[in-house]
Amino acid sequence: MKVIVVKDYAAMSREAANVIAACVKENPACRLGLATGSTPEGLYAELVGDYKAGQLDFSQVTTFNLDEYRGLDNDHEQSYHYFMKKNLFDAVNIDPVRTHVPDGANPNAAVVCARYEAAIDAAGGIDLQLLGIGHNGHIGFNEPGTEFPKLTSCVDLAESTIFANSRLFSSADEVPRQAYTMGIGTIMKAKKILVVASGAGKATVVRNAFFGPVTPFVPASVLQLHHDVTLVVDEEAASLLEGSVAGSADL
Ligand code: PGA
Repeated sequence: MKVIVVKDYAAMSREAANVIAACVKENPACRLGLATGSTPEGLYAELVGDYKAGQLDFSQVTTFNLDEYRGLDNDHEQSYHYFMKKNLFDAVNIDPVRTHVPDGANPNAAVVCARYEAAIDAAGGIDLQLLGIGHNGHIGFNEPGTEFPKLTSCVDLAESTIFANSRLFSSADEVPRQAYTMGIGTIMKAKKILVVASGAGKATVVRNAFFGPVTPFVPASVLQLHHDVTLVVDEEAASLLEGSVAGSADL
């Protein structure tokens, strides 16, 4: 695992954008796995800036998002479809046909999940998967206790996730209780993984996930078993890591 500790959120966003930009430049037809949440907003803004400066071309890129709430229309302002259009897809020259987000508007979980997993496989798998990390250690919506081999499935959200995400809805009652998410098995099939975390609120989970025991109770800890993970964290999120890790390190 490569750990890159940078000063703050802005530097984390730029550093992570560099990793994604390098992937697109190396293979203009690459398949990116994308994430939503507050943490990646800045890196998407950096990628949009790179595109507008003529440095990045998304015309051949294919994307697969990690997850989507079940039961929200694709144009709902809190849907991840909407988030991705606003933060990236509508601002760059990506072909909408090549962008994929699980269809939260379709209640037929078996169909949605099987189609999504098949679409990833048919595209040739994911070259680089971007991940945020929840305070409870979730990746995608794989909450603590999820079995590691799982593929794309319909899951119940943890109470702590409903609470964390309620800041974006008018009340916690409005947060959907279920989501479609790539499973940990899906995520682990990606060739490379890029994890971003920022702020003191993530310090405990960053330490537990990357330097604690590998356990389904901290889903992100499974990433210790992946052969190509880059973790980009700011100083606050890295504040509980051992002194030897501060700075940049290959572990
Ligand atoms: P955040 O969410 O970036 O909004 O903190 C991360 C996550 O829950 O995966």
